[in-house]
Amino acid sequence: MTLSKNNQSRESIGKIVWRCPSNIAIVKYWGKKGNQIPCNSSVSMTLSKSFTEIELSLSEKKTDEKISLNYFFEGKKNVPFEERVRKYLSDQYKYFPFLKNYALEFKSHNSFPHSAGIASSASAFGAIALSLLDVSRILRKQTINEDFFKKTSEMARLGSGSACRSIFGEFALWGKNNSISGSDNRFAILLEEIHENFRNFNDSILIIENEPKKVSSSAGHSLMNEHPYAKNRFLQANNRSFHLKNVLKTGDFEEFITIAESEALTLHAMMMTSRDYYLLIKPGTLIAIEKIMAFRKETKIPVCFTLDAGPNVHVLYPASEKNKVEIFLNNMFKNSVKEIIFDQMGKGPEKIR
Ligand code: DP6
Repeated sequence: MTLSKNNQSRESIGKIVWRCPSNIAIVKYWGKKGNQIPCNSSVSMTLSKSFTEIELSLSEKKTDEKISLNYFFEGKKNVPFEERVRKYLSDQYKYFPFLKNYALEFKSHNSFPHSAGIASSASAFGAIALSLLDVSRILRKQTINEDFFKKTSEMARLGSGSACRSIFGEFALWGKNNSISGSDNRFAILLEEIHENFRNFNDSILIIENEPKKVSSSAGHSLMNEHPYAKNRFLQANNRSFHLKNVLKTGDFEEFITIAESEALTLHAMMMTSRDYYLLIKPGTLIAIEKIMAFRKETKIPVCFTLDAGPNVHVLYPASEKNKVEIFLNNMFKNSVKEIIFDQMGKGPEKIR
């Protein structure tokens, strides 16, 4: 169907399909203010195999409700997520004038198993923003250009902060950092100078546990508002974002490892030292961390770990060490973790249709 009422566009917007990858933060975003403004800059690596694919279909709106929306996740209506998207659309109503005339149906699925416990809000809101902005773009007869991705990153951020980094491939930075020109609180930017050592970097995810989180990321972010260490933490993260940008350029594995591992432990230390303290790591998380550190010491292979807001362990290593590390991971963890997902750095979102 061509929804070009006034012959606005020759491109069809009846059905749009975008694939948006997940990302893993090396310097963590933890703490936000106002309308999804981060308290510090963060840097992440965009993944390849872990993605959300969304088909957005538009049809003529037949009711007089403000937003006509259906959200299906893996074939089933997902009411809680549909409500989150409805609120998002309602808050961003002015940016999407087509919501007035059209009913929206999202059909979404993840490439990773639902039970994997991988945070999916980054890839989901990335894909939602990409499909919505694509409709706007088609109606305005614009092309997909740099500005499209910048705007999409901004709109993705309003759905979920970390989603704004998934709009770019390889390594992305989000948040105003006085030492980094072009950095912005509203959207992420691509880090362009990446050393050979970090190209096609690998991330293998050890699924320690796949139950839903006890404390949501949103609740965790808000605990940073009155956190006794907040000021120093935000300063540290900004310094590390700047430092990591240079490390990615020079190819310094040793410094990369120090930043990545300390960031993971600092993130969880913030949770453990909040007023309403809580623990997301499990015994299996600590066992895995110790084994990875021991393996690095023994083999001198530059392999390290990071964590997101959960118990699962992300194992990071260069492409040149892929075989050796994968043998180690399979031998060491195959029988003790729920699953291992072998992923790697990716090129960013893809328009499928
Ligand atoms: C620990 O992006 O999930 O993964 O903005 O509330 O949706 P919201 O939070 P979210 O927080 C991610 C936190 C993190 C670190 C990171 O990805 O930088």
